[in-house]
This record gives sequence, structure tokens and C-alpha cells, in this order.
Amino acid sequence: VSLSVEGSKSKKISEQLIGIFFEDINYAADGGLYAELIENRGFEYALSDKKGSDPDWNSFKAWAVKGDQMTHRIKTENPLHPNNPHYVELTVADKGGALVNEGFGGIPVKAGEKYDFSMFAKVMKGRKGKILVRLMHGDNEVLAETEIKRIGSGWKQYSAELTASKTIDNARLELLPQSKGTLALDMISLFPQKTFRGRTNGLRADLAQTIADINPKFVRFPGGCVAHGDGLDNIYHWKNTIGPLEARKPQRNIWNYHQSGGLGYYEYFQYCMDIGAEPIPIVAAGVPCQNSSCGGAGQQGGIPMEHMDDYVQDVLDLIEWANGSPDTYWGKKRADAGHPEPFNLKYVGVGNEDLITDVFEERFTMIYEALQEKHPEIVVIGTVGPWFEGTDYREGWDLARKLDLAMVDEHYYQPPGWFIYNQNYYDNYDRNSSKVYLGEYAAHLPGRPTNLETALAEALYLTAVERNGDVVEMTSYAPLLAKERFTQWNPDLIYFNNTEVKPTVGYYVQKMYGHNMGDRYINSRIDLNGDYEKAVENRVAVSVVKDSQGQALIIKLVNMLPVALQTGLKVEDLKISATRATRTVLTGHPGDKKLLPVEDEIVVGSDFEVELAPYSFSIIRIEN
Ligand code: AHR
Repeated sequence: VSLSVEGSKSKKISEQLIGIFFEDINYAADGGLYAELIENRGFEYALSDKKGSDPDWNSFKAWAVKGDQMTHRIKTENPLHPNNPHYVELTVADKGGALVNEGFGGIPVKAGEKYDFSMFAKVMKGRKGKILVRLMHGDNEVLAETEIKRIGSGWKQYSAELTASKTIDNARLELLPQSKGTLALDMISLFPQKTFRGRTNGLRADLAQTIADINPKFVRFPGGCVAHGDGLDNIYHWKNTIGPLEARKPQRNIWNYHQSGGLGYYEYFQYCMDIGAEPIPIVAAGVPCQNSSCGGAGQQGGIPMEHMDDYVQDVLDLIEWANGSPDTYWGKKRADAGHPEPFNLKYVGVGNEDLITDVFEERFTMIYEALQEKHPEIVVIGTVGPWFEGTDYREGWDLARKLDLAMVDEHYYQPPGWFIYNQNYYDNYDRNSSKVYLGEYAAHLPGRPTNLETALAEALYLTAVERNGDVVEMTSYAPLLAKERFTQWNPDLIYFNNTEVKPTVGYYVQKMYGHNMGDRYINSRIDLNGDYEKAVENRVAVSVVKDSQGQALIIKLVNMLPVALQTGLKVEDLKISATRATRTVLTGHPGDKKLLPVEDEIVVGSDFEVELAPYSFSIIRIEN
């Protein structure tokens, strides 16, 4: 096999091809990336009428009362905040009872580490209250203990620090009232002090770091379908997710669990800043999922036209909140939350694979035109609708052309064979039309495993995306996170449980690309020297890019054949002065689910040889 690189034929490509699709699916947020350890801290879980919903999913989910000395009631009179209407009332006949929370399937704690406990409380009947706060394990093992004293008669936040004496993955929190009477409690919270970058109300450090390690150039949030919800009352409104935690508005998640809103817009933007990624918020286009035909909520169409002005204003307010000076109404809210500097928002996605109906078009156009008029600096990313085989997203693209959109979001989940045989997908896209954000994709096998075969199909397809990096601006594999035992969708990029993070083979493909992006695509030709039939040619792919900033030349090679390929690389055109290069190789058997890339150093020159292992993805990086 030989590869010839034509150094003189190159083109500018996007420098931000690899990013992250974050959706609160598979317990990705509460119980996942969001570091809160208490499940249902605000007593806001609500029974859903969706088919298959958990009948015990109610305000007391994840809580229990131990001991006969104490009873509980869920109440809503005089709540802490109207957005957070439920709280627990404990009637204590004598001390000895405990209010217990087992976290999201157990509270993981580490010996010697500190945890911030907080709660809102008020005494309703009786003298000033005192509560023992304990981290417990097994029958009666106390792992940490502190006291909250002098609880008064109005809602007030109380906090304390706990230090765990042992490393345990299934501790529980127990609150033991020490005085007779009636107490109300809400927003009972426990956070590790070691969050990602030490942020208050922060993210789980190991998960956030694993994502950051991809080196993503952008983060899309909050979905996916979560962004538009499955009914008008389930649309994700960013304003409900900022400000004090007790004032945020939790809601049912379209994936049939709960969103506390604790991981809200402020936290998403802050994470983007922390990892140097562009924030890409996706707002609903004034319609819920498929104009509501995919949810349990019936055919509701879109937001009634008489309410659309308010909705459009909400979208405009998002730009002011993200970028406005602290003197503006919404900019001040960002500054008050701790970020006086603008977040420098550049993109807003409007809609998520919605059916392109008249209802959609009318509302999308309203939002788009308002954004164009008030914020022409913002790139609006439209949607071309859901994937239907053979349609080429016709209606979506018609609308994109009509409005001359800067960028559109395409989604496709397909078998590995599709990715192998559609490497020319973008070759004939109109270079003068909208750019593409491939916002969701993954190779799907029957049973939806993720393994080397799916990962290589994605790696191979991404070489073709790089070749079309003048049309495709960004890509993000989807979904990103999945908690073991709480997964609604497979495959995902990173699996995790309460204590472990388990990146998939596909994750390493993303990471290898994330660290080896370029800004110029250099033409190259691969020649199988007649050794193979046409049918297998598609299983070998190459992409050569240059990173002008670092002066690196990066050669990506994918071999999806079951045999090794001795490959001669003729790169004299590139005028390489380096004699050594770093090579990173991901290889194994197609069914392998656990693999790590291996790095070594190789000798390079104007004409050199490498062996491409069977079923492998190799990156040769020449720092010139
Ligand atoms: O990635 C999972 C789901 O797939 C997204 O929520 C949706 O946009 C798509 O259908």
C-alpha cells in the first residue's frame, strides 16, 4: 500500500471539529456529572404519567424515616421558594429517629476527604432545634458526624463540614433531630469539596476531567431531546436553571427521571470556560419534541403564537445574560453569580431534530430573525430535522437555504457499514451554502454495543469529515455519558458508576482526534497497489492535516481490514525536517470493548514505511 501526499494541494478546514454533546440522558447530570451526592434533595421528584414510569417516583423518593419516634409529611404551605414547593416536615416525639438518604444508589466517600453539608430548615413547633448530621455505613458505623444547632422559626440555610473516616462507596446520610417538636427541612445537600477545579456547586472531578481530556473545542448542552422536551410544559427554559439553587425550577426529564437544575446554564458555561471550549446552548425552536408527537403529551403543536414574543425575548435575554455587561439586567445576574466577565457566547442552536412542519418553520423563523436583528454577531445553528433514510433532510435544508442559515445541525446513528460506505457524504455539499454541525452521530451495531468495530467506523468516517472540514465545522459523538444501571440509551461514549469512570474504545478515537486537529487539509492519495478488490478499499482511509500554529503535520490512518498493511508514505512534498515522529495506535479485535491507544516513536523522512496493524487507527504526528 502506498500513500502519496500532495503538499501543494491543501485547503483551510475548521479548527474546531471535535467537541462534546452533553445531554442529561442516562443520569448524566443529577447522579452523574453534577457532584451533588443527595438524591431528590429538594423533595421535588414528581410522579409521571408516562408509560413505564416508576410508581414510587414521588417527593419522598430516595428518602426514608428510621425509628418510631418520628413521622414525616411532604408539605407545600409556605415553601422555601415557589419554584421549589415541596419540603419535608418531621414530627419528633422523642429523639432517636433519623431522616435517611442513600444518595444515587449509595453515597461514595473517601477517607480523609471533606464534604460540605447544607440544608434549609425551620422549626414549626417546639424550641430551637438541633440536628445531628451523620454519614453512616452498614448497621451502625458512623463515618462522619457534625451538629446543626439553634435552628430557628424561619427558613434559613445551615451548613457544616464532614470529614469521612473511611473510603466507602455506599454510605448514607442520616439527620437525627435532637429535640421534640416539628421541623421543616428542604434542599438537603452534600457535596465533596474536591469538585472539578474546586468549584462550589461543581462537577464530579473524575468525570469532568475525563471529558476535558478529549480536548473538546466546544460543549453543546443541554441536549438533544432534553432541550425541547416532550410537551409544551417540558421545554427546557434556561432561566429556570440559573440563580440560587433553591429558586431554580426542577422538572421531569424527558428520559423519565428528574432534573434538579443544579447543573444549570451558569455551571455549563463555567465548565466551558474551565476547559477552554466554546459554549453551544441549544434552545427549543418554540416547539417540543417532533412538535409533541414523540411524547406522552399529545399533539400540542408549538408554543401558542400569542406567547411567542415572550419566548423569543427569553432567547435574546440569554445573549444578554452570557455576554452583556454587569450593567445590563441579565448581565448583572451572571455577574452576581460570580462571573462579571462576559462568557463570550458565539453560537446558539435553535431546535433539535424537530419535524420541519409549518408550526416549526413559523416559530423558528421568528426566533432566527430576532437573533439576526438584535445579535448579528451570534451564529445561529438551525436543525435539518430527524434522519429519514433517503430524504437528505430535504425540508430542513430547504428552510436553511431559504433563510440563508450560517450553520445547520445534522444527526445520524447508523451501522458501521453506513459509515464505511458513505465517506463521500459531504464531498458534494454546496460549499456556498450553510456549514454543517454534525451534532449527533455514532455507529450502531445490533444490540448497541460499543467496541473497536464501531470505534474504527467512526475514526474512518472522521477522516472523510476532515477532508470536508471546509463544510463541516463541528462534530460531536452522542450521547456522551451513561451511568451503569441507569442507562436509557446505548451506546454512549463514557460509562460510569458512583466511583469509576469507564471510557469506551470510541472515547479514545475522540481523544486521539481531539489532540490532533489541524487547520489545513492536505490532499493525499492512497493506493492499494491492486492488492485488494474495490469492496475493501473503503476500509482503509487516510487524512493528512497541518496544524499551522504548532507547525505539526498529522497523518491519520485507519485500517479496517483483518490484515496488516505495509504502507509506504511518500511525503517529500511536505518538506519534513524532523526525523522522528510520535505514533499513537489503537488496535485489537473488532469485538474488543476495552482498549487503550499505545504511543511510540518512529523514524520518518520524505519516504518512509509503517505497518498498519489489522483493525487499527494510527496517528503519526510530526512536529516539524
Ligand atoms: O442522543 C440521544 C437522542 O438522540 C437525542 O436526545 C436526540 O436528539 C436524538 O434523537
